[in-house]
Amino acid sequence: MDRLIIEGGKPLNGTIMVSGAKNAALPILIATLLTDEPCVIENVPSTLRDLRTTFRLLESLGKKVVVEGSTVRVFSTGSLKTQAPYEIVKQMRASVLAAGPLLARFGLVRVPIPGGCAIGLRPIDIHLKGFEAMGARRIADQGDIIMSAPRLKAAAIKLRFPSVGATQNLMMAAAATPGKTTIVNAAREPEMEDLGKFLGRLGATVRGAGTSTVTIVGKPKLNGARHTVIPDRIEAGTFLLACAATRGRVRLQGAQAAHLGSVLAALKKAGAQIRSGQGWIELSMERRPKAVSIATKPYPGFPTDLQAPWMSLMTLCTGCAKVTETVFENRFLHAAELGRMGAQIAVSGRTAVIAGQECLSGAPIMASDIRAGAALLVAGLAAKGRTTIARVYHIDRGYEVVEQKLSGAGARLERQA
Ligand code: UD1
Repeated sequence: MDRLIIEGGKPLNGTIMVSGAKNAALPILIATLLTDEPCVIENVPSTLRDLRTTFRLLESLGKKVVVEGSTVRVFSTGSLKTQAPYEIVKQMRASVLAAGPLLARFGLVRVPIPGGCAIGLRPIDIHLKGFEAMGARRIADQGDIIMSAPRLKAAAIKLRFPSVGATQNLMMAAAATPGKTTIVNAAREPEMEDLGKFLGRLGATVRGAGTSTVTIVGKPKLNGARHTVIPDRIEAGTFLLACAATRGRVRLQGAQAAHLGSVLAALKKAGAQIRSGQGWIELSMERRPKAVSIATKPYPGFPTDLQAPWMSLMTLCTGCAKVTETVFENRFLHAAELGRMGAQIAVSGRTAVIAGQECLSGAPIMASDIRAGAALLVAGLAAKGRTTIARVYHIDRGYEVVEQKLSGAGARLERQA
């Protein structure tokens, strides 16, 4: 298993290119199951582990996937299967998004229940209730959910929580279902808007994607399309936090400031100087960050995916900061690892209180999930001395060529097999 060795304490300085958004590319690629015609998806972070898993998922269901750099072409090879393999779903929970398109097109789907993961239980009840509102019946069988409906019906669906995955699954199901489906209390993340655009290009009529009420008028037969994925706001946010923690100066090329409103506001409060324009963000930080408390919320609130790296920044603050996690029930696994580097963090339930320190010291530490891994990366870059991060495969799920990108901005880090 690979490890990352970081010689920390060096300010990041330079330009970093932001990749396409993993969390937008995944549902958009899965949405190609809605059509038999070819699709071309550009700006896909195709070297990420989760993307490779998505390609395998599509191929296991009967598509052909051709990858050329960040351009991915998806073709039909005949009829699609309606059963997602457990081998793939257990590696990537987002595989459950195949349920919406397959159920809408074929009236039947069998998917393994994804089970919990390090950060929480992560049930899929909101997805399933939505399908039921569209007329599907469900039965459970040997760890799988089987959903069937001779034909899904357009419906008005109110989500009990604005789940990202459930909103995407239902948007895709609605795109292939004749009539007008309305999703109320929908997730508002920029990735919804991107998926909405793609579904529109496939031939559905989509209104309000990226707002709390989405309406979709679907068509049973959709066409192929070409689409360019939005930039990855979480990757961009992670690099901004790494820059602030190392008191450096970076320019992120390809980043969209509008997608990072709550994070940029918190960074400014902490003392960062930020400038942005069309497709770029620049950050510089001269002093230790001020203490800024945050609570994670669905978009446009502070993203849960940047909670862990934010905590790393706050371990260096002048004062005491509170970090409250409201989206997932167990997303503080990084706190103990940061403690090994000298951070002072007291966790109680869903809140962590961080007493800022002058500096962190490098240590051998271990990533427990993708964003906890990102937090350790931020801490390792800022810490004095050598940090060794084990289980880098978690980081590789969400950050493309991370050591090349960071060493291009002056960081000293290398991968060791
Ligand atoms: C997506 C993102 C993930 C991010 C999360 C929240 C992808 C591939 N992943 O995950 O990076 O951290 O949004 O921004 O885009 N829930 C239920 N029942 C459901 C569905 C969700 O109780 O049917 C709960 C979950 O357990 C969790 C919360 O709702 O506590 C948020 O989940 P959701 O918004 O669905 O996140 P994902 O789509 O899994």
